[in-house]
Amino acid sequence: MRALTALLAVAGLLGLVYVGVGLAGQQYLFGVVVPYVAIVVFLVGMVYRVLLWAGAPVPFRIPTVSGQQKSLPWIHQDKLESPSNGLHVLGRMALEVLLFRSLFRNTRVAMTPAQRVVYQSDKLLWAASLAFHWCFLLIFLRHMRFFLEPVPWLVSFLDGFDGFFQLTVPTFLLTNAVIVGALLFLLGRRLLDAQLRYISMPSDYFALFILLGVALSGISMRYLTKVDLVAVKELSLGLVTLQPVVPAGIGLPFFVHLLFVSVLFIYFPFSKLVHMGGVFLSPTRNLANNNRMRRHVNPWNPEVEVHTYDQWEDEFRDKIKAAGIAVERE
Ligand code: HEM
Repeated sequence: MRALTALLAVAGLLGLVYVGVGLAGQQYLFGVVVPYVAIVVFLVGMVYRVLLWAGAPVPFRIPTVSGQQKSLPWIHQDKLESPSNGLHVLGRMALEVLLFRSLFRNTRVAMTPAQRVVYQSDKLLWAASLAFHWCFLLIFLRHMRFFLEPVPWLVSFLDGFDGFFQLTVPTFLLTNAVIVGALLFLLGRRLLDAQLRYISMPSDYFALFILLGVALSGISMRYLTKVDLVAVKELSLGLVTLQPVVPAGIGLPFFVHLLFVSVLFIYFPFSKLVHMGGVFLSPTRNLANNNRMRRHVNPWNPEVEVHTYDQWEDEFRDKIKAAGIAVERE
């Protein structure tokens, strides 16, 4: 039922384009106004969320660690599991953001027929998530050919790289197959696994359906329905140069694709998809575990009168020495 609600919402968008563009001829609304609204909402929303996170108090360091912290020189430190400086944190973050390292070690709980709870590794989830995210990034970067003139060499290179197999006309793009496969896997596991189905909300399904909508509408445009790419580029360049035009001859499938993309962007800052920015601001990941090396004072603590060991030793050094006890500083 929850999945159906989300599916109906996405199907509703399809109907909206059909009525808005197909019947009412509102090309300007769907080709210019809606994409601009989407970009503004996305940017303002993301900035708002980041400011909100950045303003949240983190009075002390709370990195999650699972390895030996920096200690005596002869004890081997696990620099990734327990980073003690910015460089270690950079390495940890890079592996997290680029390879989803913590998801790789994710486990799922299951019950054996003998009613014993066991924890199993879940590498398929990691593989599908990584495949989806990398494909999305590559597709996003490749799309820059619509928005930049001249097209940067990196974009052309990625186009060639993606079409490496040189199958079919137009060239089959590997990312197209992988992104759909990965999204179907992520959807399938929510629908087929009773535990996951129980905790899945319409918003979980909506994110997957809208992403599938974007991918499938793009793919069908490329291989089946076709689109006037020159006209699309004219529209895209018009949008980025703030001189919007809607050239004639762009068919309904393009407006479907563009509305799905716009809704995805509008939805992004208010949904769990915002983890794209959140991962960088997560204090359990982006802080060094140097609590025992450096004294971190909570900035809003009231001023406390303290008497440190150094002060105490200064005060009683003569007496300590006279008693034959070692001092820390002569
Ligand atoms: C998050 C953003 C987007 C995603 C994930 C996405 C996804 C896709 C995918 C998977 C394809 C299939 C072919 C390919 O991979 O290149 C495609 C094609 C296409 N997309 Fe997008 N798209 C996005 C944004 C846009 C935007 C903003 C435009 C508007 C200019 C656009 C215009 C097109 C066009 C014209 C095609 C057909 C390309 C061709 O025939 O070669 N897309 N899109």
